[in-house]
Amino acid sequence: MSTTDQTARVAGIFDRSAQTYDAVGVPWFTPIAAGLVDQLDLRPGERVLDVGCGRGAALFPLAERVGPSGHVTGIDLAPGMIAATAKDVASRGLTNVTLQLMDASDPDLPTSSYDVIASSLVLFFLPDPPAALRTWRALLAPGGRIGVATFMPPEPRWRALDAVFRPYLPPQLLDARTSGSAGPFETDAGVEQLLRDAGIDEVRTVSSQTTVVFTDLEQWHAFSWSHGQRAMWEAVPEGERAKVRAQAEQVLESGRDDDGALRLTQGIRYTLGHV
Ligand SMILES: C[S@@+](CC[C@H](N)C(=O)[O-])C[C@H]1O[C@@H](n2cnc3c(N)ncnc32)[C@H](O)[C@@H]1O
Repeated sequence: MSTTDQTARVAGIFDRSAQTYDAVGVPWFTPIAAGLVDQLDLRPGERVLDVGCGRGAALFPLAERVGPSGHVTGIDLAPGMIAATAKDVASRGLTNVTLQLMDASDPDLPTSSYDVIASSLVLFFLPDPPAALRTWRALLAPGGRIGVATFMPPEPRWRALDAVFRPYLPPQLLDARTSGSAGPFETDAGVEQLLRDAGIDEVRTVSSQTTVVFTDLEQWHAFSWSHGQRAMWEAVPEGERAKVRAQAEQVLESGRDDDGALRLTQGIRYTLGHV
C-alpha cells in the first residue's frame, strides 16, 4: 500500500468514526490525552500545536492551560473530526483555538513558531513516523517541548480479542498500533529513539495506565466501532460480522474479572523531550 493510500485509509476510518468518537460513555481518549497535557508543563500565553487533534481530547485541556493569551492550533486529516470539533470550539466560545485540515506527516505551518507540540495516539498511524517527527521538530521554537502519547503492548485478553479479527485483516492492520513486535512502538526505548533521531533532546518516558469498565457487551460493541478499531470491523465482510461479534463476546465473557466486571486496562507511554 502506498503512503498516500495508507494516509487516506486512516483518515477515512476516523472520518467515519467522528460522530461517536470518545462519546459512547467510556472515557478513554480524554483521560489519556489529559495525562499527556499534564506532562507538558504548559504556561499561560504559550503557542501550542496539537497534531491529530481528533475530537479535542488534548486540544481543550491545552486551550485551558495556555489561556486567552495563548493559542492552540489543532490539525487533523479527517474532515469529520475537524468539522465536529470546530462546532465544539464554537459552542465553548473559545477564541484561542484554530483548526486546520492538514496532513500530520508534513504540516504546512510556519517553522520555529510553537512552544509546545502535543500529539496523542497519532504517530503510529503515519506511514513514516521518523520523517514526520523531523517535520514537527522544525516547527518548534528554540526551547520548545514535545510530547507524544502511544500505546504500550496490549494485555493478553485484549490480544485474544484482536485474534478474533486477525483472519480478516490485511497486513497493514495486523498490528496497527505498534507496527509489530520489531517496530519502534513496541518499547519505550524504540519511541525514545525516534524522537532522538529527529533531533529532540533529553528524551524521557513517563508511563501510565488507563482502565475502563464496560457496562455490558453492547457498550463494548459501540466502543469498538467508535475509534481506530472500526478498521477491523470494516475488514470483516458484512455477512460475517454477527459471527465475529459472537466470537468476540465469547472472548470478552471469558475475560471477566473475579468481580464480574468487563475491564480494559491499557498501558500508555508519554514520550517527552525538548529542543
Ligand atoms: C486515535 S485518534 C487520536 C485523536 C486525539 N488526539 C485523541 O487523543 O483523541 C487519531 C487521530 O489522528 C488523525 N490522523 C490520522 N492520520 C493523520 C494524518 N496523516 N494527518 C493528520 N491527522 C491524522 C485521525 O483522523 C484521528 O483524529
